[in-house]
Amino acid sequence: MTQRTALVTGGTGGIGTAIIRYLAGQGHRVASNFRDAEKGERWRKAMADEGIDVLMVPGDVSEPGSCVDMIKTIEDKLGPVDILVNNAGITRDSTFHKMSYQQWIDVVNTNLNACFNVTRPVIEGMRARKWGRIVQISSINGQKGQYGQANYAAAKAGMHGFTISLAQENAKFGITVNTVSPGYVGTDMVMAVPEEVREKIVAQIPVGRLGKPEEIAHAVAFFTTDQASWITGANLAINGGHYMGW
Ligand code: CAA
Repeated sequence: MTQRTALVTGGTGGIGTAIIRYLAGQGHRVASNFRDAEKGERWRKAMADEGIDVLMVPGDVSEPGSCVDMIKTIEDKLGPVDILVNNAGITRDSTFHKMSYQQWIDVVNTNLNACFNVTRPVIEGMRARKWGRIVQISSINGQKGQYGQANYAAAKAGMHGFTISLAQENAKFGITVNTVSPGYVGTDMVMAVPEEVREKIVAQIPVGRLGKPEEIAHAVAFFTTDQASWITGANLAINGGHYMGW
């Protein structure tokens, strides 16, 4: 497999870590970003202990200028970004009638506007090189909605609108753009949901359990291969059967 430079935003999270393990395992040079330097360094060391060398760069995906600097640093050190996984995401759950503007805009900036901020600085290079793989990590809740997540569901649904437009514009340039929509995976984000609420959610999953980060990472890594060159504009649901809509 050709070794490429891959950027996975939000690498320190559960799903991001698993994606980085997969891409590094395929021989790619891997980079991620941090906002909290101490947390980023702790995580980088833990990955190094596993034998995975991750370039960690300061970068706030909700800030366009920060993303331009982040991409420049990565490309200077590792070469052009050929694989981009827009994975960084946050929740600020609240029923809408109690939601503050801050809860709304933080989620939209970090989950949706980040797609512009991070992808815009890499897309022209991918087009010039005639090869690229872009994967958005959306959510089951962007497909089905979720009580308490008007902000998150709106942003996550928007990510797939971004995917299918970008896929059309860039298909002729050897660039595929796809979405992966995970269901409830056993990460810190899901474990932060109150236990009694979480138990009710798990009871709705036909497979009968939360997902594992590796079960998402495996599919993301497949989308980034040469063999997946005819898959573009897809939205792959990986959710234990929790939502089976089209
Ligand atoms: N369906 C119907 N009613 C519901 C409900 C649901 N799914 N969830 C809560 N309610 C009801 C409660 O029973 C309660 O009703 P009563 O007032 O009649 O008793 C009412 O809503 C509570 O509403 P409040 O506005 O007072 O809400 P709250 O402050 O108690 O918190 C909440 C509500 C924030 C939505 C909380 O229930 C919650 O955290 N839910 C989980 C949301 C969720 O799934 N988040 C996913 C996070 S993980 C993630 O996002 C990753 C991913 O991609 C999957």
